[in-house]
Amino acid sequence: MSTIGQPVLRKEAHAKVTGRARYVDDVTMPGMIHGITVRSSCARGRIRGITFGPGIPWDEITVVTARDVPHNVVALINDDQPALADGVINHPEEPVVLLAHPSRALLEKARAAVTIDVEPLPAVFTIEDALAARTVVWGTDNLFKEYWIRKGDVDAALARADVVLVEGEYATGAQEQLYIEPNGMIAVVDAASGAVTVSGSMQCPYYIQKALMKLFGVGPEHARVVQMETGGGFGGKEEYPSMIAVHAALLAKKSGRPVKIVYDRAEDMAATTKRHPSRTRHRTAVTRDGRIVALDIDFAIDGGAYSTLSQVVLSRGCIHAAGPYDVENVRIRARAVATNAPPHGAFRGFGAPQSLFALERHVDEIARVLGMAPVELRRRNFVRQGQTLATGQVVRDDVDMGEMLDRALSLSEWNAKRERFTEENARGGPVLRGMGLATFLHGTGFTGSGEKHLASVVGAEGTADGRVRVLAASTEIGQGTSTIFAQIAADAIGIGYDDVEVATPDTRDVPNSGPTVASRTCTIVGKLVESAASSIKAQLVTAGMLREPYDARAFREACAKYVREHGRLRATAEYVQPKNISWDEERFRGDAYGAYSWAVYVAQVAVDMRTYEARVEDFWALQEVGKVIHPVLAAGQIEGGVAQGIGWALFENVVWRDGRMINDRMTDYIVPTSADVPPIRVVFDERPYAQGPHGAKGIGELPMDGPAPAIANAILDATGVSVRRVPATPEVLFEAIESAGSSEARERTRAPEGGAHVA
Ligand code: MOS
Repeated sequence: MSTIGQPVLRKEAHAKVTGRARYVDDVTMPGMIHGITVRSSCARGRIRGITFGPGIPWDEITVVTARDVPHNVVALINDDQPALADGVINHPEEPVVLLAHPSRALLEKARAAVTIDVEPLPAVFTIEDALAARTVVWGTDNLFKEYWIRKGDVDAALARADVVLVEGEYATGAQEQLYIEPNGMIAVVDAASGAVTVSGSMQCPYYIQKALMKLFGVGPEHARVVQMETGGGFGGKEEYPSMIAVHAALLAKKSGRPVKIVYDRAEDMAATTKRHPSRTRHRTAVTRDGRIVALDIDFAIDGGAYSTLSQVVLSRGCIHAAGPYDVENVRIRARAVATNAPPHGAFRGFGAPQSLFALERHVDEIARVLGMAPVELRRRNFVRQGQTLATGQVVRDDVDMGEMLDRALSLSEWNAKRERFTEENARGGPVLRGMGLATFLHGTGFTGSGEKHLASVVGAEGTADGRVRVLAASTEIGQGTSTIFAQIAADAIGIGYDDVEVATPDTRDVPNSGPTVASRTCTIVGKLVESAASSIKAQLVTAGMLREPYDARAFREACAKYVREHGRLRATAEYVQPKNISWDEERFRGDAYGAYSWAVYVAQVAVDMRTYEARVEDFWALQEVGKVIHPVLAAGQIEGGVAQGIGWALFENVVWRDGRMINDRMTDYIVPTSADVPPIRVVFDERPYAQGPHGAKGIGELPMDGPAPAIANAILDATGVSVRRVPATPEVLFEAIESAGSSEARERTRAPEGGAHVA
C-alpha cells in the first residue's frame, strides 16, 4: 500500500494537462491594473533627474519612484539592494520608476517617455577588473565575500621534490534559468487595514514576506504571500520575485487597486538573476604514480551589482571545489566580487557546477601530464568512508566511488568505445569522437549551520472529511514537491496517497518550512512531513480513537470524528540538527552538509572539425542519492539537469555589452532542443541515508554538476584539445583547436623544455 518508490500520478497532473492550472498571467481581478518597470540605461552613474515627457496622460498613471518607498531595500542577506534606484545607478537593468495603468499599450508608450538623466561613472565588468579594484563599485574593495578553506600544509606539499606541479585556469559563463513561465506577481491591498497580499510565481514565499515586511515596516499579518502555480524556477525564482513583489505592492498601495506585473521573456532574461560567471585557478601537486597530495585553488565568481545571494553561492562553490577526493593538503580561496551587471543569483547547483567544472577538467589535465588514464587517476584519489573532505568532514556515507566508476564504465562500454574511436579518429575525421567523464558529489540541504538557523517547521492537519493536509511553504515548481510530500505523509500514517492533500503555500496558512532551494525539499522538509504526519496518527491513537492495526477507512473515520469533537487536529514538526553534525563558520571547517549525493557521469561527444560543433551523442548518469521516493520524478530531475548542463557546456552564451545581456531573446540565446539532447541513461544507486525520509538524499542540483566537465573532457579525448571555458561554442572550439594546432607546430620546431609545468 505504500507508494514510496512508486511512480504515482503527480498531484497537479490533471490540472496542468487540462489547462485548469492557473498561472499568474491567467488571473485577473476586479479593478486590476498593470504595472511596468522603467530601468536605467547605463551601467553606473548618478541620477541627475527624471523627466516625464509630453503626450502622455500622466495624471491617469500611477507613478512610483524611490521617494515613495518607505524603507528602500529588498531584504535578503545584506540588504544592499534598493527596491528602486535612489540617486545612484549600479547596473544597466536597475529599476528606477514604476508605472501602473489599466492599459498595457499606454504603459509601453509611457515607459518610452520617461527619461532618466544619468551622469555616468566608471564601471567594472570583469572578475579580474573587480579584483584589481582600480575602480571600486561596492564597499571598499569590490569584495562581497571571501572564504578560505585550509587543510594540511599546501605550501610544503607543493614544494616537495617528488611531485609534479600542474597548473590550470578554467572559466564558466553566465547562464539564464529560462523557466517556462516568466516572473510575475499580483499585489492587492486591503483598504481598511492596509495589509498587502502578493500572489505569483515563486520558490520562497517567506523570503518575499520578509522583503515586504522590511520595506513597509509592518508585521507578518500585514504582508501575506501566496504561491500560484509556478512554471519552473531552477533558482531563478529564489530572490528576484521579492523585487517584483515589492514593486507590485508599492503600485497597489499608491493606486489603491490590484496591480499585476508580469515580465515578458526579454525583460525576464535581461533583468533577473543568472548563474554567476566564474574563473578558477588550480595548482596541484601530484606524485608520478598519481596521488594528489595538494590542491591549491583560487575560485572567484562575479556577483553583479548587489550582494544578494552571492555569499551563499560562493560557500557552496568553495566547499565543492575539491570534489570527491581524499587529499591531505587543500587550500581554497574563494571570492565573490562586485561588477556592474545585474546581480547574479541562485541557479541549480549554487556555485558547485562552476568549481566542479574547473576541478573535473583539471583532473583530466593532470592525467595528461602524468600520461595516466583519467579513470585511473580518479580511482587512486577517491575519498572513502571514514576519510575526510576538504573541510575536514569525515565521510559517513556508505560511498564507493570506485565501484560506481566501474559500473559507469561498463554501462557506457567505455573501453570498447575508446578503442574504436581512437582507431576511427586516426583515419582523420572530419568527425572525431571521444569519451569523457566527471566524478563528483553534491551536498544535501543548506550549507554548514544553515539548516539549524532556518529551523524549518512543517505542519499536518486532519480535515473534517477525514483526510490529511500537509502544511508547508515548500513550493511545487514542476519538480514534484506536492507529490513526494503526499507519498511520504500517506506512508507515515498508512493511508492512501489520494487521502493526502498538500496545502497551497500561503504564509497565512502554512508554517515556514524554509526556501525551496539547495536540494533540501525531499530530505530536510520531507523528513519533517513524515514526522508531522506521524504525530497526527499518534494523536488519534492517544485519544483512543484509533487502534493499530487500522485501515485507511478506520483512519478516515477517526480523523473526521476527532475534528468534529475537538475542532481541529493539527501537528507540527521542527527541524533539529542531528547531534553528529558540527560546523565552524569562522574557519569553514567541519560538516558542511549532513549528507552528499555522489555521481559518475559519462559523455560521448562528436566534434565536427569542419564546423567546430560538438554534439553529445550519448550520456550516462549514474548517481547514489539514497532512497528514490518517486522514480519518474527523480529521473526527470536528472534528465532535466543533464539537458541544462549540456546547454551550459555547449550552447548557452550570454553576450554582454557594458553589463547588459544583449541577446535577451530565445532566438539568439541558444538552448538545447530535443534534437540536441542525446539519450540520457539514468541509473540510481540507492544507499539509504539515516536522516532522510526512507533514506532519501538531495537530488535537484546534482545533475547540473557533471555534464559540462564530462563533455569538455570528451572533447579533449576526441580532439586532443583542451577546452578550459564553457560554453564551448563553435567559436570557442575553433579558437582552442586553431591555437593548439599552432602551438603544436611551434613545439615541433623547438627543443623540449624541462619541467612539467602546464599552464
Ligand atoms: Mo537553488 S540554486 O538552491 O534555488
